[in-house]
Amino acid sequence: MTLRWSPRCELATSRRQALLLSSLVALRPPPAAAAPPPTSLLIGGTRVASVGAGTWAWGNTQVWSYDTSQDAGLRDTYNALLAGSELPLLFDSADSYGEDGRAETLLGEFGSPAPARGRAFLATKLAPFPSRLTAASFVEAARASAHRLQVARLDVVQAHWCVERYAPWQLAAVEEGLAAVVDAGLAVSVGLSNYGPKGLRRVHAALARRGIPLSLCQAQYSLLSRQAATSGLLETCSELGITPLAYSPLCLGVLSGKYSADGPLPKGARGLLLRGLLRDAAPLLALMREVGAAQGCSPAQVAVLWCKAKGTLPIPGVRSVAQAQDALRCLTLQLSDVEVAALDAAAARCPSSATQNPFQGA
Ligand SMILES: NC(=O)c1ccc[n+]([C@@H]2O[C@H](COP(=O)([O-])OP(=O)(O)OC[C@H]3O[C@@H](n4cnc5c(N)ncnc54)[C@H](OP(=O)(O)O)[C@@H]3O)[C@@H](O)[C@H]2O)c1
Repeated sequence: MTLRWSPRCELATSRRQALLLSSLVALRPPPAAAAPPPTSLLIGGTRVASVGAGTWAWGNTQVWSYDTSQDAGLRDTYNALLAGSELPLLFDSADSYGEDGRAETLLGEFGSPAPARGRAFLATKLAPFPSRLTAASFVEAARASAHRLQVARLDVVQAHWCVERYAPWQLAAVEEGLAAVVDAGLAVSVGLSNYGPKGLRRVHAALARRGIPLSLCQAQYSLLSRQAATSGLLETCSELGITPLAYSPLCLGVLSGKYSADGPLPKGARGLLLRGLLRDAAPLLALMREVGAAQGCSPAQVAVLWCKAKGTLPIPGVRSVAQAQDALRCLTLQLSDVEVAALDAAAARCPSSATQNPFQGA
């Protein structure tokens, strides 16, 4: 029997969607039919857990209303993440997250002395600020990040965004800078962020000539931001053996299931920015709730599991112990092919999508 997501479903109420999905779930093919997403991924020679954690909110005041009273909770979050993962767990950070690299400083403090169990795999990003015009300036920046993170060597150092459209003269400094960071012994491997398939291929070839491993590439990727798939970036990663990281996998909270256009809305600028998207994504969110109910998990976990099912390593922004536990549960859960197909169809019907990063390269 072939199961199809019926076009009639486009007109369905969320209740009818729920009934249809329940029958699809009940009839889903045996697990052997689906290629399970990997439970771990290889990055720069280290096997890491298949879900990581993002730390943008650990220091950012404008978007995420960070203040130092949150630090104790963030430490508990960090410890919960490491206690719950047998494999090293990737923390994505950046030297521009929070004033004076606050997110890196917190990560460094939380990891020292080393927690009882688990290991943080530290992947930080260096910002191509206009003042960073030489490879040496990136080596200096990496040294400052390693100092804040309290390690001699970073696991991965990434270029935070792509300068090719607005400062092409800086490209060589950024890319040679990454290689120089590895040559200086300050990082094991390098990564890119907000690069497209063309740029990724070019940098991969240039680094390969110097024997420098390009281990990961991160892109904005979620049910409401699928450009990494349509642009060919995910395919290029797979061809070149580069691990794709999905950043903003919950679309800054839109896919968490706790907000709606009628309220509650996220506080501050995020509320204004995301209201329209929350309205348009209501049918998708209804379906995510149904999929979650069938799997015994939340819409937020469905959003993360969808990214995993697409072969990426999602890095949700995690800042409480409860969120850490949700993320850890995603290490062992898996959506079926039928559920993924239903979510794909609902996402494709959503009339709007997430705003793309202005520093995205081709
Ligand atoms: N390379 C880049 O240019 C770039 C850009 C953006 C992000 N990133 C990276 O990607 C990471 C994640 O992206 P993001 O911070 O944009 O946002 P996100 O992960 O898409 O969403 C974070 C939001 O989801 C909520 N949330 C998280 N876990 C939840 C759970 N289990 N249940 C319910 N709600 C949950 C959070 O709630 P609360 O508000 O309650 O905490 C927050 O509102 C960042 O931290 C950063 O490391 C990279």
